[in-house]
Amino acid sequence: MGSAESPLDRRTLVESLRDYVEQIREEGLEGLPASSTVAPGAIAKASAPPQTARTQAVEASKPDIAPGPAVELISKYPGLEKASTLDELREFIGDCTRCKLAPCRTNLVFGVGNPSAQLMFVGEAPGADEDARGEPFVGRAGQLLTDIIERGMGISRSDVYICNVIKCRPPDNRNPEPDEVASCEPFLMRQIDLVRPRAIVGLGTFAVHAILKIKTPISKLRGNWHELRGIRMMPTFHPAYLLRNPGDKRLVWADIQEVMKYLGMPIPRRGGSSS
Ligand code: URA
Repeated sequence: MGSAESPLDRRTLVESLRDYVEQIREEGLEGLPASSTVAPGAIAKASAPPQTARTQAVEASKPDIAPGPAVELISKYPGLEKASTLDELREFIGDCTRCKLAPCRTNLVFGVGNPSAQLMFVGEAPGADEDARGEPFVGRAGQLLTDIIERGMGISRSDVYICNVIKCRPPDNRNPEPDEVASCEPFLMRQIDLVRPRAIVGLGTFAVHAILKIKTPISKLRGNWHELRGIRMMPTFHPAYLLRNPGDKRLVWADIQEVMKYLGMPIPRRGGSSS
């Protein structure tokens, strides 16, 4: 008898827990395990969420977020989760032959930038310039991305972290294939876990579809926060698309400004100096 709980006690406990979770969900706090995509508006877009005692507690408990499908990806490569720095992760990947892109590459393009960046950019896959140099976003599209970061956001490219879903160049710049994504994705997930940025910008249709596992057109996804591994993700157009459609640069700038607001960054006036 003594300490045995009655079914009524248990039901009351379950009900209060359920109410508490619902309450948190309605407040739009990130990091809840229910879905990997946060519907537009579910995360306050205007500014960083107010830091109440409860949001701080939720932030502090982030590593305990219930594992979603992306966590499963890591177990694809036993030992991957033991890589505890980006250098160790690069070493783990080694001279990779895990997919059919290996023989096509000159250099594996791992990622570049601040290993503790608050902001991470994720593109699709290396192109010819990136393959030759072993660094992401160094061609024409890369120059535009650098301009967005340095002239638009007013920070240095080395302040952010930049990488791709796929680490090796697909031949003739074709789209990466599903088996190639499946081979490489655990490395991106581990990169995200290690950098642990406050926000991620997903660049272009392919990267965003591969990351979020949805096929909604990028024109509908952009401008709205999504969630990836407990981190806010802002989809936007790829810089290569902007080279062909410069009229849409204003949309990307609007998306970047949302990210800057969330990060508490001053929005520079057009031309570079902050307002
Ligand atoms: N496009 C990408 O998606 N990534 C690069 O690194 C270069 C071009």
